[in-house]
Amino acid sequence: MPAAALPGPKLSPLDQLIYRPGRNPLAFFTNLARTYGDVAAYRMGGEQLVFVNAPQYVRDVLVTNNRVFIKGRGLQRSKRLLGEGLLTSEDPTHLRQRRLMQPAFHRDRIAAYGGTMVAYAARLRDQWRDGDTLDVAQDMMRLTLAIAGKTLFDLDVESQAGDVRDALNAVMESFWLTMLPFADVLERLPVPPLRRAKAARARLDAIIYGMIAERRADPNRDHRDLLSMLLVAQDEEDHGTMTDQQVRDEAMTILLAGHETTANALTWTWYLVSTAPKVEARLHEEVDRVLHGRLPTVADIGALSYVERVVTEAMRLYPPAWIIGRRALQDYPIGDYVAPARSILVMSPYVLQRDARYFADPERFDPGRWTADFRAALPPFAYFPFGGGPRRCIGDSFAWMELVLVVATIAQHWRLTLVPGHPVEPQPLVTLRTKHGMRMTVQQRDMMH
Ligand code: HEM
Repeated sequence: MPAAALPGPKLSPLDQLIYRPGRNPLAFFTNLARTYGDVAAYRMGGEQLVFVNAPQYVRDVLVTNNRVFIKGRGLQRSKRLLGEGLLTSEDPTHLRQRRLMQPAFHRDRIAAYGGTMVAYAARLRDQWRDGDTLDVAQDMMRLTLAIAGKTLFDLDVESQAGDVRDALNAVMESFWLTMLPFADVLERLPVPPLRRAKAARARLDAIIYGMIAERRADPNRDHRDLLSMLLVAQDEEDHGTMTDQQVRDEAMTILLAGHETTANALTWTWYLVSTAPKVEARLHEEVDRVLHGRLPTVADIGALSYVERVVTEAMRLYPPAWIIGRRALQDYPIGDYVAPARSILVMSPYVLQRDARYFADPERFDPGRWTADFRAALPPFAYFPFGGGPRRCIGDSFAWMELVLVVATIAQHWRLTLVPGHPVEPQPLVTLRTKHGMRMTVQQRDMMH
């Protein structure tokens, strides 16, 4: 039986030719799903896109049939920054690099970074003054960058490595544009920040290669950071190690993939908690009861189960990686349809995680829904903030640990309230940012115990 014609909207010829996600891409994709169901196709920017919207289909693409997809040509430009790092490489390079790096991201190895996460969160919370109004989005970005700098390079980017921070910020400005699933379309557009980013990239490269050379010259000094692990990582099959360039590519990838995503998750968490007084009270109650006023450690994470539910629920409503794309290498059957070879399959944690079929009252921020029973009954890939399959986020344990420890450390001392009237609007670039930052007032909590 021939495959049914793919359902989907007819866009204007202009929209089909150039890439215009509309003023509100989140609404665009949400409407596609609500109008057409589990599969919706459209042409945009000269590409055939197929939006896939059922947990089983997402799992098929990311896991079961991952071999018939690549991340795609759209990554060419990001490769100029990230080279053949994990995020941007394809097999067989990806497979080998992933094998080499996996041990460095194992839960037990990552646990060693818990102290840094807490220490840096404590440093931030001690800088705040009662009644201050600040942009929490900016502070979370600074915090997660500092944590990434320390755990990756053993550098304190706040006090001793401002040049790293500045160069990275310039690079970041344009980088995320290039990571969108349809970036090869964007690539044809003139984007001014790209020029600035080029100079910054050269600076960043010099810094990273400098650190690699230093480490290679003094191999006995153990910095206990990820860079040391990358330098000694050895492939179990071919016993090879990484070249300087590979180490550089992976370091840059981790730095970029690791900090903005986590910062966004934290920012949305503070916002959502501020809208739900009962959640806030319960969060504070748990932190006080478990910690008795001392700083958290990795050993407390198991007991901070409500904190964990709060961040789980925040990433349901505002998944930092809100969209994931794959290019089909061949015709690909989905249910009654066939996605043609070369089409781009688009999957959105943002849309699926707000689907009433899987989440009752889906727009409601309700950490309490994440009971053990609920989790067990949820179909795999109805919730997938870290993707899945061989390209699943390698930093997921790192991120969970960072999210729980940072939220606990800050919530212990502070209550954050949105400045009345401050516009809260998601900005879906590659990560789900806040369009206008997040202006909040911090209030010292009455000390508990
Ligand atoms: C809340 C925080 C984070 C979220 C939501 C997130 C999300 C994701 C997602 C969805 C992917 C898969 C993309 C795809 O399939 O196309 C991914 C890949 C990746 N992430 Fe994360 N991430 C987070 C934090 C981190 C951290 C902390 C690190 C490193 C320390 C990291 C490093 C990476 C790397 C290297 C990849 C590429 C993996 C591969 O292709 O083998 N991420 N991330």
